Amino acid sequence: MAEMYSFRFPASVARSYAAIANGDHGSLVLGRCASLRWTVQPTLRPAERRSSLPLSDYSSALVTGATAGIGAALVDRLTQRGLVVHAVARDVRRLEDLAARTGAVPHPVDLRDVAALEAIAEGLEIDVLANVGGVSRPGNVLGSSRDDLEDLVEVNLGAVLQLTRLFVPGMVERDRGHVINVSSIAGRYNFFGHTAYHATKAAIHQLSRQLRNDVLGRRVRVTEICPGRVETEIFGRNLGGTPEALAAAHAEFFEGYEVLAAADVVDAMEFALDAPRHANIGLIEIMPTFQVPGGLTFDRRADEVSGR
Ligand SMILES: NC(=O)c1ccc[n+]([C@@H]2O[C@H](COP(=O)([O-])OP(=O)(O)OC[C@H]3O[C@@H](n4cnc5c(N)ncnc54)[C@H](OP(=O)(O)O)[C@@H]3O)[C@@H](O)[C@H]2O)c1
Repeated sequence: MAEMYSFRFPASVARSYAAIANGDHGSLVLGRCASLRWTVQPTLRPAERRSSLPLSDYSSALVTGATAGIGAALVDRLTQRGLVVHAVARDVRRLEDLAARTGAVPHPVDLRDVAALEAIAEGLEIDVLANVGGVSRPGNVLGSSRDDLEDLVEVNLGAVLQLTRLFVPGMVERDRGHVINVSSIAGRYNFFGHTAYHATKAAIHQLSRQLRNDVLGRRVRVTEICPGRVETEIFGRNLGGTPEALAAAHAEFFEGYEVLAAADVVDAMEFALDAPRHANIGLIEIMPTFQVPGGLTFDRRADEVSGR
């Protein structure tokens, strides 16, 4: 029976075996009689690893979509963690309530108003830019109105690009920053929904990955958060945004389903923000356990079915 020895190689030796180990831990069988087990030493000393850039090292954030759903939950979390949070959305009353509850700085602004976004950015340095605000629409692109398409593109994509150009250069200059972009499983998978919404979210996916190239060499991190169904107002807004529409959306999309809560998504964001400074969490896809992308639709031609 092989005798087992356990010890640690110095990091330099261990690294040379990394290809064999294919991971941080492994074992090496020597001849017939002995197995060596090793633990690869981390390339950074423990003290260096711990000099992380946790959320507590960031001091300010700007969160869009701050009056409802995921954005509101993120404002709650970041203010609890001690950040000065600039909250962007249109609903003045809700922003005032949010400011009173959390201490966030309210910015009642429409994300489609580029001049207003520029005014917010004037002289403002922020460490965390969280692009959360977004809209969806019922139906698909074939029946869309001009306004629907403009809203989807300007809010879901245009504003994210504008805020990126307004705030990320400062992060690069200060060598510190984090961009969090909320996409959607709609940007990664095909399923029935508003095609223009899918397209804007696919663009957010690509923007998030590409932005990493633009900031390379600086400690500016980019995280895409890609959720499945979350219990928020977005489905009710889709149906008109009235109390009745919100109730109808609740019955259709949430009742009987074990969906995500906004706090689940914020937990994922916090995980990325809390990662050590040398680690960029690039993409987190988070879905309800009972929701999966999949399935293929193959429709019969209507004229062949009816024999025409
Ligand atoms: N809920 C889901 O199942 C789900 C799944 C995947 C991805 N997402 C994404 O998650 C993000 C947050 O959505 P949510 O579900 O939390 O939605 P929500 O509850 O409907 O909240 C949307 C937020 O966006 C703001 N907003 C909408 N249009 C705006 C505009 N023109 N200007 C300024 N602010 C605007 C709203 O504030 P005001 O009305 O006060 O302006 C509100 O604060 C979106 O990007 C959405 O696409 C959601």
